[in-house]
Amino acid sequence: QKVVLAYSGGLDTSAIIPWLREHYQCEVIAFVADVGQGEEELAGIEEKALKTGASACYVVDLKDKFVNELISPAMQAGAIYEEQYLLGTALARPVIAEAQVQVALEVGADAVCHGCTGKGNDQVRFESTFAALAPHLKVIAPWREWDMRSRQDLLNYLAERDIKTSASATKIYSRDANLWHISHEGGELEDPWQAPSEQVWTLSKSPQDAPDQSELVELSFENGQLIKLNGQSVSQTEALIVLNQIGAEHGVGRIDIVENRLVGMKSRGCYETPGGAIWYTALRGLEELVHDRPCQRLRHQLGQQLADLLYDGQWFTPVRHALLAAVATLAEKLTGTVRVSLYKGNITVVGRKSEFSLYSEAFATFEEDEVYHQKDAEGFIRLFSLSSRIRALKQGGLQ
Ligand code: ARG
Ligand code: SIN
Repeated sequence: QKVVLAYSGGLDTSAIIPWLREHYQCEVIAFVADVGQGEEELAGIEEKALKTGASACYVVDLKDKFVNELISPAMQAGAIYEEQYLLGTALARPVIAEAQVQVALEVGADAVCHGCTGKGNDQVRFESTFAALAPHLKVIAPWREWDMRSRQDLLNYLAERDIKTSASATKIYSRDANLWHISHEGGELEDPWQAPSEQVWTLSKSPQDAPDQSELVELSFENGQLIKLNGQSVSQTEALIVLNQIGAEHGVGRIDIVENRLVGMKSRGCYETPGGAIWYTALRGLEELVHDRPCQRLRHQLGQQLADLLYDGQWFTPVRHALLAAVATLAEKLTGTVRVSLYKGNITVVGRKSEFSLYSEAFATFEEDEVYHQKDAEGFIRLFSLSSRIRALKQGGLQ
């Protein structure tokens, strides 16, 4: 029996290793996805997995795949969940779970395992991916099986087995970090009336402490992909790293939301997506120039559909391909440059240009113009309001 575990190095998945070995008499292979969670979490992780009882540990760098195949299309679509959440955790899950399945197939595993709770979205995202890519694999979700409930339970469990851990009994927040965002849930946030204390935030400066000087950043896009920052060619992954630094400095991309989980309950979370918020805002600024109204409306609908699909863990489904095809078609015109200003938590588009711009100063000007005949408006409005006129003639207007 071989089980491939999605291992993070944290307390939960550390306890899962000995638990799996005892309950399933199996060999445990740790799988670590590097989605940009940072050195702190990744340093020494292989050694840690082996010391905890794993027979092997695979660390796979998925950063570019995460950015190019998930984040970039999500940005083109403007995928945002319930008006605010840029889907930082949801976007990473398909990439992580797919790579985990690949490892499972390579080592000839019988089962895959994750450390998600039975109350959340993440279990659905992992297991929907497993179902779509390797339905023959058994799925083990310890949090739904064992009767341990607290961090102290897990620490005791490890101590009884003489397995060392640097984890502590009290950890206020549940966090999930990657290159795109960090999420914070739990602690005082469980009361939706409580404001997040400053210790919730770990990535970005508080807007109050951000510089008093605004900063301008130019983002250039080609077919909806981010290709340059301030005129310099960059990969999208490099761009995101830089945008995260600049955005964090100016305190942008913080949100505080009560969201609807797929499993039916509401949950409150604070998320930091500094670079993502800039990327998202800049692309929307470019769309203002190049999309006519029907295209804008369609893009908005597609963005909402893709957001729900991602949130619900339905990435590996046929409708995703159809959605992304439409998104890519709309994005063909998203070539151009947007200038944004960052100031104390705010991101403001202050300039945009594009070879596909539909904006015409000749038509829009408040000054004298030669192209637009104001008289044309008269007939247009008479027909546009014809039904109102007929109704008023029949039923009376203002009484
Ligand atoms: N509520 C967010 C989501 O469902 C964040 C989840 C964070 N996950 C975690 N394992 N800490 O996408
Ligand atoms: C978890 O259950 O592991 C975190 C919360 C979620 O998945 O929504």
